[in-house]
This record gives sequence, C-alpha cells and structure tokens, in this order.
Amino acid sequence: MELKRIVGHEAAKLVQDGDVVGLGTGSTTHYFIKKLGERVKEEEIEIMGIPTSYQSFFLANESGIPITTLNEHDVDIAVDGADEVDPDLNLIKGGGAAHTMEKIVDGSAARFVVIVDSSKMVNQLGSIPVPVEVLPEALRVVQRRIEIMEGAPSLRMAERKDGPVVTDNGNFVLDVAFEEIGNPWDLEVELNSIPGVVENGIFTGLADEVLVGTEGKVESFKRI
Ligand code: A5P
Repeated sequence: MELKRIVGHEAAKLVQDGDVVGLGTGSTTHYFIKKLGERVKEEEIEIMGIPTSYQSFFLANESGIPITTLNEHDVDIAVDGADEVDPDLNLIKGGGAAHTMEKIVDGSAARFVVIVDSSKMVNQLGSIPVPVEVLPEALRVVQRRIEIMEGAPSLRMAERKDGPVVTDNGNFVLDVAFEEIGNPWDLEVELNSIPGVVENGIFTGLADEVLVGTEGKVESFKRI
C-alpha cells in the first residue's frame, strides 16, 4: 500500500493547471485521485477529470474534482494502474473489470502515465490471465473461439452478488489464461477481432511513461 501511495502522489504532481485528466481505476489510482483533489482545494488548480469507471467517478466527486466527458473534451494526461508491465511498457489491465473505458480514455490521452508498485513489473506478459469483456449474448461463442486460440477462458464470478461480474457497461468478463504470450500486439488484435468481444486488457504501445514505486522511491521508465 505504501508503494502505491508514493507513486500515486508522485503522479499527481504531473498534472498542470488547466489540464483535462483521465482518471484511472483501482487501488493505486485511488491515491492519485485523492491527492489531485487536495491540489484542487489547496492550490486552486482548475482541472477537469474524465473517469474510467463508476469507482473513479465517485472518488473524483468525493474529492472535489469537476467531471467532464470524452464527448466534450480531449484528455491532456491520463494516469492509470496496471496488473502487469513488460520492458516495452506493454500492459495487462482489467483486474477491476474497467479495461474497456480505461483503454478508450488512456488511449486518447496526449500523455498516458502508468503507476504501479514494483511487483507489477515482469519480463514477459502472461503470468496472469488476460481479462476479456464480452457481450453476454456472445459468451458461449466467444469462449469457443478463445479455446481454438489455445486460451483457457474462465467466467469471472462476482463476490457479494450471485452469478458473474457485470461490468460498468453491462457485460461479462472472461479471464483467459495463455500458456505464453509471444507477441502481445498480435494477441490484442486477435482477441478483439472475435465478434462479441468488447475489449481485452492487453494495452500495447499506449503507455508513454511508467512510474514504479520501489522501496520508498519512484523510478520512471519512458517509451522510446
Ligand atoms: C481496472 O480494471 C484495472 O485495469 C486496474 O487499473 C488495474 O487492475 C490496477 O489496479 P490496482 O492499482 O488496484 O493494482
């Protein structure tokens, strides 16, 4: 938690007066959004936030960050967490089932900064399953197509609700384990080409910078 806090607070310093800010989802961006709210109150910076989920929407509201939408404004900087980050700054996201809106907001930002603790850094993506958001009506056919691609799909089940997780968009999530992800870009494109798939959690070529919380300090890795 301490590393997530440090890195979240560091990212809040990157936001400038007048920015439209993409607000990521998860336990790391929680610290970012709270800190940004403090800057709005204490420094009186004028910013607007574009949330990537109900979670970040409620937190931004609570923190006093004015909200706007992608249909009204472009994003100057988006800050978001990740579940895995590889040396090329490709990501797996979607542990919180918010990856569809995250990819739309983060991918449209002039600058996309990822914030993680050091446990998220890996040599190769794929030691965790890839989240895939699926239209409920397409669940069975999507599962079958994924099995042909040698993925092992598992329907994400809810906690404190009977049945599956239902995303902010009203869809299901398949967590798909792969033996190996040789080429993340190819897999990202292949998964999204299955009819019924809304979006998958592989983010290739989107992150401009990754801030990593490591033993009390923050390291920065930039895309070359
Ligand atoms: C939400 O669906 C995810 O993409 C999160 O951004 C990701 O799981 C990182 O979450 P934590 O900061 O809680 O680890």
